[in-house]
Amino acid sequence: MNFLSLIESKREGKILAPEQIQEFVREFTAGKIPDYQMAAMLMAIFFRGLNTAETRALTLAMRDSGDVLKFPKDQRPLVDKHSTGGVGDKVSLPLAPLLACLGFRVPMISGRGLGITGGTLDKLDSIPGFKTLLPAGKIVEQVQKTGCVICGQTDRMVPADKKLYALRDATGTVPSIPLITASILSKKLAEGLDALVLDVKFGCAAFMQTKADARKLAKAMVALGNECGVNTRAILTDMNTPLGRAAGNWLEVKESVACLETGRADPALRDQAAQQRGPTDLLELVLDCAARLLVQTGNAESLSIARTQAESCLASGAPRKKWDEMLVAQGAALDAFNKKLALDHTAPVVLEIKADRSGLVSKCDARIVGEVVRDLGGGRLTKESVINHDVGVDRLAKPGERVEKSATLCRVHAADRAQAAAAGVRIKAAFKLSAGRL
Ligand code: URA
Repeated sequence: MNFLSLIESKREGKILAPEQIQEFVREFTAGKIPDYQMAAMLMAIFFRGLNTAETRALTLAMRDSGDVLKFPKDQRPLVDKHSTGGVGDKVSLPLAPLLACLGFRVPMISGRGLGITGGTLDKLDSIPGFKTLLPAGKIVEQVQKTGCVICGQTDRMVPADKKLYALRDATGTVPSIPLITASILSKKLAEGLDALVLDVKFGCAAFMQTKADARKLAKAMVALGNECGVNTRAILTDMNTPLGRAAGNWLEVKESVACLETGRADPALRDQAAQQRGPTDLLELVLDCAARLLVQTGNAESLSIARTQAESCLASGAPRKKWDEMLVAQGAALDAFNKKLALDHTAPVVLEIKADRSGLVSKCDARIVGEVVRDLGGGRLTKESVINHDVGVDRLAKPGERVEKSATLCRVHAADRAQAAAAGVRIKAAFKLSAGRL
C-alpha cells in the first residue's frame, strides 16, 4: 500500500475505498505507518470528512483491530449507554446496576477523562480496591453472573482506537464527526450489543458546542449503529451546566450512590439521599436512558410505561444492592468504601463559596467548573497527569434556584488552602445571579 498517495487523495477530497481504509488501519495498528503520516491523514479527514461508506469501513476496521466480546446466548439483552462526555456526568454509575436489575446484561466499557470532561474509570478508581482493568474472559463472566460490569478496554480490544485517539488528541483532530463516530462505535460494536443509547452532549463544555452539530453527530452514529446491527438511538442533552451538584471523582461516586438510594426503604437513608441528590437532572437522565433501552429492546410498549418500570425498580432498592454486588465482584473493599462514603469530605481542605447578594441563579458555567476541577488535580492536562480523586466541587447551586446573600454557591474540595482559595476566585465567575425572574 502506498499510504502517501492515500493521504494525497483525501487531501484533495477524494473518496477512499473500504479496502484501502481496512488496510491502513491494519498497518497503523501493527506499527507499520509512522505517527507523522497518520497525523496528516487525520488532518485531511478532519477537513475533507468521510462519507457514510468510508465511516462504516473505518468503524468496522477499528472494531476488528482486536478482540470482540462474545457472550453466551441468553434471554437478557446486551445493552449499553455512551455519553460523548461532560462535567459532572456520572450517569453510567447508577445506570449500570439499574439496567442489570431491569433484566439486562450490561458490558459497560468506559474511558478515562481528558481535559475538562470526567471519565467513568477515574471516578471508579476512587473506590478502595475496585479494579477497572479486567481481562475479556472476566468481563463476560461477571456480566453473565452479576448482570453488569463497568471497566476499561483491555489492551486487546480496539487497539486501533487507542493509538488513533492519542494521536488525535495531540494533533487537534478530535472534534470531527466521522472520527468521533468511528471511535465511539468501534468500541461499542466490540461489546457485542443488542441495543445502545447515545447521550450526545451539546453546550459550552461539550465537544459539540451547538445543538445543530450535536444532532449531526447523533444522526451519523444512530444510522451507522443500526446499519451494523445494534438497535441504536440517541438523546441530545445540555452540557452548559454541570450534571448534578458535584464534579470531581470521589464526589461524583458519592452523588451516584445518593441517586441509587433515592428509593431505599430506610427513611433515614432516603432523606439523606434526597438531600445529597440535589436537582433531579441526574436522576431524570438515568431513568430516561433506562426507559429508552426498555423500549428499544421491546420490553416496554411506550416510554411512559418504561419510565414507570424504571422508577419502581429504583424505588425497590435492588439497584443499590446490585451496586454493592458489582463493587465486590470487581474487588472493592466494601467496609472501606462504606466508611469513606460516611465522610463529609476526603480532601484536606473544604471551602464554602458564598453568594455576594441574593438572586436567581441564571448560569452555572460547566466549562469553568470543569477547568477548575481539572486544575485542582481532578482531571488531566496530559495523559501522564496523576489524578487526585478527592478534589472537586459539590453542593453546586443550579440555574433556576434562588440563593440568598451569603448562601452557599458551591463547596471547593482542595489539596491545600492556597489551591482552594485560587479555585474559589475562579469558580465564582461560573455563577451568574439575576435579580428578577428567569
Ligand atoms: N469519545 C470517544 O471515545 N471518542 C471520541 O472520539 C470522542 C469521545
